[in-house]
Amino acid sequence: ASVTLHPEKAKPISDLLLGIFFEDINYAADGGLYAELIQNRDFEYALSDKEGHDPNWNSYHSWTLHGDNSTFTIDAASPVHPNNSHYAILDTKTPGAALVNSGYDGIPVRKGKKYDLSLFTRQPDGKSGKLLVRLVSPNSPNVLAQTTITVSGNSWKKTQAVLTATADADSATLELQPLTAGRLALDMISLFPQETFKGRKNGLRADLAQVIADIHPRFVRFPGGCVSHGDGLDNIYRWKNTIGPLEARKPQRNLWGYHQSAGLGYFEYFRFCEDIGAIPVPVVAAGVPCQNSGPTVKGAGQQGGIPISEMDEYVQDILDLIEYANGDIHTTWGKKRAEAGHPEPFHLKYIGIGNEDLITDIFEERFTLLFNAVKKQHPEITVIGTAGPFFEGTDYVEGWDIANKLKVPMIDEHYYVSPGWFIHNQDFYDKYDRSKSKVYLGEYAAHLPGRPSNIETALAEALYLTALERNGDIVSMASYAPLLAKDKHTQWTPDLIYFNNTTVKPTVNYFVQQLYGSNGGDKYLPGTITISNDMNREDVKERIAVSAVQDTKSNTVIIKMVNLLPKAVQSSIDLSGIGIADSNAVKTVLQGSPDSKDARPVVSSYPVAEKFSSELPAYSFTVIRIKTK
Ligand code: AHR
Repeated sequence: ASVTLHPEKAKPISDLLLGIFFEDINYAADGGLYAELIQNRDFEYALSDKEGHDPNWNSYHSWTLHGDNSTFTIDAASPVHPNNSHYAILDTKTPGAALVNSGYDGIPVRKGKKYDLSLFTRQPDGKSGKLLVRLVSPNSPNVLAQTTITVSGNSWKKTQAVLTATADADSATLELQPLTAGRLALDMISLFPQETFKGRKNGLRADLAQVIADIHPRFVRFPGGCVSHGDGLDNIYRWKNTIGPLEARKPQRNLWGYHQSAGLGYFEYFRFCEDIGAIPVPVVAAGVPCQNSGPTVKGAGQQGGIPISEMDEYVQDILDLIEYANGDIHTTWGKKRAEAGHPEPFHLKYIGIGNEDLITDIFEERFTLLFNAVKKQHPEITVIGTAGPFFEGTDYVEGWDIANKLKVPMIDEHYYVSPGWFIHNQDFYDKYDRSKSKVYLGEYAAHLPGRPSNIETALAEALYLTALERNGDIVSMASYAPLLAKDKHTQWTPDLIYFNNTTVKPTVNYFVQQLYGSNGGDKYLPGTITISNDMNREDVKERIAVSAVQDTKSNTVIIKMVNLLPKAVQSSIDLSGIGIADSNAVKTVLQGSPDSKDARPVVSSYPVAEKFSSELPAYSFTVIRIKTK
């Protein structure tokens, strides 16, 4: 293949193209990125699905009483906060028994590391007593850390302590053992490693956050996905329930079958974006919950939306979110952001309204109210509408009709399809009308039967991303989905990064995202690709793709080349007119057999000139970074 670039025809493209989609699915938040080690710290677990099927998913979940002469019950008569109504009562006749939390598949602890313990306590009988708190390993040495807390009086009191672990344990438990007879009320029992990402309190798991940061995402979409709109009106993700003191936040059932503590809430999402240099892209419900039957059944019924009589209040909630992110500290919501420790604004520029909703009259009416209100009150904010579910053949017709009618600046499309679809549809956006809304490809992934992530799916995505760069004048953003999945708690595959309590396991597809994230540009350099005669068949040609972008800030030209053929391809590249500043380029190659899951990028220095050649190995993705004058 020979590639001749045409710098004179360079066109501006979005410099936000590659970002991430974060949803609390597969234990991505609680038990995942959110560094809290105690499961059900607030005793608020409630039945885990809409029908209330799992009777074990209740306030007792993850807690057990070890020992005799005591009882452990749940009470709700006099809570720490009305939003956090349940708490534990330990009634100790003779000291010895302990309340034990098993964490999320155990509590991982490392020798010498410090852990922040906090809890609310109260003595319902108004007495005073002592409570021994220990981190205990199932192996020897048994006690890893301990502290004793004094509890007195019948009003809730928060106690904090630091536990330092004396040994490693992958699966420790936290034990709370009253040393005095009598009744003791306990709530918000929390344990965080002090080493969170960037050392933040109420922070994120450092290794997981770092692997996300290493993608160099330009934006973070949160909190979903379906989590944004919930599976019923009472399950819509309400941002106001997720800010402020942890004990005042409102936990709720996660529609993926577990629990959302709301500990990782809007403040923490905004802060994470800032910490990794990404712009925040919150997605709020368009006044309707999730379509009943999933995205693949066109014509499925939709639940009713928020009653129109309540829409003013809901619209105001969304306007308040913008004030919370950007408002002056003297505004009602800007003040709350400042109280949380962030007087500076979070510089919100985009807001998504709706997530893959069925496009019905119910949807349109509510979306229109929200869109018009944001446009009027905050013309500086770019609203991203939704194209609705993807049905091949009638792609997004109704969603786009609304976008065209209202002139929505950007529209969110989602598709989970086969590698073949990505290979055959590289012209998907070439055909889009440039005068209409821009596109945010908010969710995509290549799915094979059985859904493994391997070089075949990764290269199909890499190939398609060359087409997104080519269309970077109208495709403003793109994010692979879902991002995270915890071993043994995965509701959806494939995902980009798998993990358990101690290990983070990026997939081969992760490295494609990382290579695009680290090698974006703000100008697209069109090129002419000539394929040698022996390969000049459509089905062969479409398995080779090239994209060249220029990053004008760093004076770099970046060439990306994908070869999805089972044999190596010689490429010759003509950079005439580009002005090379350094003949030592940096070349990164990701290659492997189609079912390889372990392939990793290999970086080397590579000599380049105005005309140079490079072999594209079978099943490979090559990125060459060249410094320009
Ligand atoms: O990414 C998983 C789910 O797929 C998202 O929650 C939803 O938006 C889509 O259907």
